[in-house]
Amino acid sequence: MTDLTVRRLLVDMEQPIQSRWCAGDAFRTALFDALSMSFPVGEQFFIDSVRNGFKELPQEKQERFRAEVQGFVGQEATHRRLHALYNGHLEKRGLVNHWEPRARARLSLMEGVDVRHWLAITAANEHFTAIFADWMLRNADLLGDRDPRLKTLWLWHSAEESEHKSTAFDLYQALGGSHEWRVRWFRRVTLIFLGDTLRQTVSNLRQEGELWKWSTWKSAASYLFGRRGLVRQTFRPWKDYLRRDFNPAQHDSSASVRWLEDNAGSFSLVGR
Ligand SMILES: [Fe+2]
Ligand SMILES: [Fe+2]
Repeated sequence: MTDLTVRRLLVDMEQPIQSRWCAGDAFRTALFDALSMSFPVGEQFFIDSVRNGFKELPQEKQERFRAEVQGFVGQEATHRRLHALYNGHLEKRGLVNHWEPRARARLSLMEGVDVRHWLAITAANEHFTAIFADWMLRNADLLGDRDPRLKTLWLWHSAEESEHKSTAFDLYQALGGSHEWRVRWFRRVTLIFLGDTLRQTVSNLRQEGELWKWSTWKSAASYLFGRRGLVRQTFRPWKDYLRRDFNPAQHDSSASVRWLEDNAGSFSLVGR
């Protein structure tokens, strides 16, 4: 069982978000803004999956998960709230969130489906988020210092994603979810997630007038495939998920622990 703390982030999300807030880099800014656009709808689905999965557990297994599920819901609900404020600023700047309605339409197909499918989708997304989060915490300098508030927001979110990376996975296992379905959903989620990320990033770049600039795609190539590149460094941990004996807790979380220790002044603890 993982002990999950809910934290209130001490940042001012009322201030507008500038274009190129991420180290003056158009590509990185568009990518992060795209991901933020997916969070309110995605994280609500994760909350519902975990809550409903918990209810399906037999009484004797519920005690083991009760506090962890509460912590998970608290953390994701806080992420949702802050990213909704974040997305409000993007909307004011004229960016259009195409991801959310697409995700909503897909998720509406899940009504009435066995909760283990919900959890398999959630666990797959959470694995994605966790390996991205760990990578981001280890390459925090790439967020730049133009907007320290957003840097803190992304690193705090990453630290908590790393903390709760096993919750949906463990619930899925506790409910007897199969390896085959877990892997099947993971492959599907990978394609959908990458497709949605690309489409929304391109849309954001087009809106900002940055899409057809050489510098944008040069930055994309190095950010994704360079020596410290996201794709290059997360491919192995991505692939680990396909192993039959995999559990997210096998992946190192020390970057998250370190960030939370070093940045304790950036948040207050809720209910403690
Ligand atoms: Fe989250
Ligand atoms: Fe999460």
